[in-house]
Amino acid sequence: MDSAIEFGDVRMDYVDDDGETLCALTDVGFQAAEGEFISFVGPSGCGKTTLLKITAGLLTPTGGEVRIQGHPVWGPTQDVGFVFQSAVLLRWRTILRNVMLQVEVRGLDKKDYTRRALALLDLVGLKGFENKYPYQLSGGMQQRAAICRALIHDPPHLLMDEPFGALDALTREQMHLELQDIWMQSGKTVLFVTHSIPESVFLSDRVVVFSPRPGRIREVVTVDLPRPREIGIETDVRFGRLVSHIRGLLETTRSSGRPQLGETVLFGGRQSARGKKA
Ligand SMILES: Nc1ncnc2c1ncn2[C@@H]1O[C@H](COP(=O)(O)OP(=O)(O)OP(=O)(O)O)[C@@H](O)[C@H]1O
Ligand SMILES: [Mg+2]
Repeated sequence: MDSAIEFGDVRMDYVDDDGETLCALTDVGFQAAEGEFISFVGPSGCGKTTLLKITAGLLTPTGGEVRIQGHPVWGPTQDVGFVFQSAVLLRWRTILRNVMLQVEVRGLDKKDYTRRALALLDLVGLKGFENKYPYQLSGGMQQRAAICRALIHDPPHLLMDEPFGALDALTREQMHLELQDIWMQSGKTVLFVTHSIPESVFLSDRVVVFSPRPGRIREVVTVDLPRPREIGIETDVRFGRLVSHIRGLLETTRSSGRPQLGETVLFGGRQSARGKKA
C-alpha cells in the first residue's frame, strides 16, 4: 500500500517562558495509506492537535519527522486542507468569499475556482447561501462552509480537528454522511481528531488510540465495516464491539503506566466497499 503520510518517531516538547519543558507526544510512528480515513482518539492533552499542526507544517517537531508522499514536511504545506474545531469563518466575508480565501491567498485563477466553490457549496447543501454572511447560517452550515474552504484548492490530504464537536447530535449525524460522501468521491487521505468513539468508528478505516500525555500510540484499530455506512449501523454488533474495544483501550491507558504498541484487526479479511483492505 502506498503511504500518503508517514510519522517517523515524532516527538514534541514545548518549552515555556521559564524554560520548563513539557513533552506533549513521543514515539509516534505510523503510516496513513493513500485515500485512507484515519481517526485520532485519546485523552485531552495527549497531543492530537499538536500532531495535526506538525503534519500541516505549522509546528516543527522536536524529534522525528512527518513525510507527505515521501517528502519531509518543512514549514506550511499546500498539500493539506485544515478544518479547525470551530468554523472560524471571517464574519465580514460572504460564504462564497470565505470559501475562496485560499484561492485569493494563493493567487489562483478566480474564475475557475469560483465554479469549483459553487459546486462544493452545492455538494454540502449550501446552494443559495453563497452570498449570505456567516452570522446568517447555523453552526452546522458554517462548519460545512469551512469544509468547502479546506477543499477548495483540492489538497490531497484533509486534516480535521474535532470539526463537529460543537454540533447537536442530529446535525452531527448528517455531517458524518456528508463527510463520508465527500471522502468517497474525492479519495482524499483524511486525519480526523475526535473525542467521540462512535464517530471515529463510523467514519474511519483505522482508529489510532493514544495514551495520556505524553501521547504515544496505544493501538491502531482497524474498522473493517462495509461502506457506505448508514445511520443505524451503530446497532450492528460489530460496531458495538469496536466501540467497546476502543473505550477499553482508553480506560486502560488511564489506569495503567506506559502503554504497549500494537495493531489490532478486529474484523480482518473483509474487503471494504472502496475495494481496498482497510
Ligand atoms: N503552544 C503551546 N505551548 C505550550 N504547551 C502547549 C502548546 N500547545 C499545546 N501545549 C500542550 O501540549 C499538550 C498537548 O496539547 P494538544 O492541544 O496537542 O492536545 P490535544 O490532544 O489536542 O487535547 P484536546 O483533546 O483537549 O484538544 C497539552 O498539555 C498542552 O498544554
Ligand atoms: Mg486538540
